Amino acid sequence: MTWTDLGNPIPRDKLRKYEPYTWPSQNVEYLPIPIELNLPRLEEIIACRRTRRTFGQLNREQLASFLWLSCRINAKGEDHVGFQITQRPVPSAGAIHPIHLLLGNPNNNWVRYEPENHAFVQLGNIESPLSKLWAEIPDVIDPEDGTALLFVAEPGKTYAKYKFADSLIWRDAGVLIGHMALVAEALHLNFCPLGITGEPWAGKLDNQCQLAGVGMALLGSRTPL
Ligand SMILES: Cc1cc2nc3c(=O)[nH]c(=O)nc-3n(C[C@H](O)[C@H](O)[C@H](O)COP(=O)(O)O)c2cc1C
Repeated sequence: MTWTDLGNPIPRDKLRKYEPYTWPSQNVEYLPIPIELNLPRLEEIIACRRTRRTFGQLNREQLASFLWLSCRINAKGEDHVGFQITQRPVPSAGAIHPIHLLLGNPNNNWVRYEPENHAFVQLGNIESPLSKLWAEIPDVIDPEDGTALLFVAEPGKTYAKYKFADSLIWRDAGVLIGHMALVAEALHLNFCPLGITGEPWAGKLDNQCQLAGVGMALLGSRTPL
């Protein structure tokens, strides 16, 4: 076995300026904000959480609640590196949150979750590499009518603040997956992390090499709609 040493992250003495990747911003669909969520107690959620591998279609409210509780931006902080740090439901090294979330359905339509406005944004003409990605999912698991979650890292964001940042980005992906597993259980949804990273397709979304796939998951309703 070869263990790849990703290096030991250290904060830079002098921060680097980074220009974030510009996502397509046309065709925005604002999601409903969950008003009164009637959730089980945390200890119940922890006792019941299991990876569940059947995936019914999700309605907008289910998706919106899941994203609200796992990815939305709660607060924004200072901008020292070319973008603002943020607070969200999960922790992230340096409050950088370098991982974008793309969602795909069995019709192979993909959108980006925009965490500041709690909205979906179409990917437009950059979407095409993801059709090959959807075709790979049945090699690992039958997605049925589920929604694919693709974690797309923008490593340059974390590298603006840290040297040897790779492991921070992978750990951010793990934090997100663990948190989502609990949120899915709280909402009585089925969630399964996938071992595939989304590469090489996620990286092909841009040609400046600013993006990289760092994981996938499937999310679905528990009972068919
Ligand atoms: C990083 C990661 C990758 C995983 N990849 C897959 C996968 O590709 N297919 C799958 O069916 N389950 C996958 N799982 C789910 C595990 O198999 C599951 O968590 C494990 O069997 C323990 O079951 P539990 O989650 O119900 O406790 C993955 C879990 C993690 C954390």
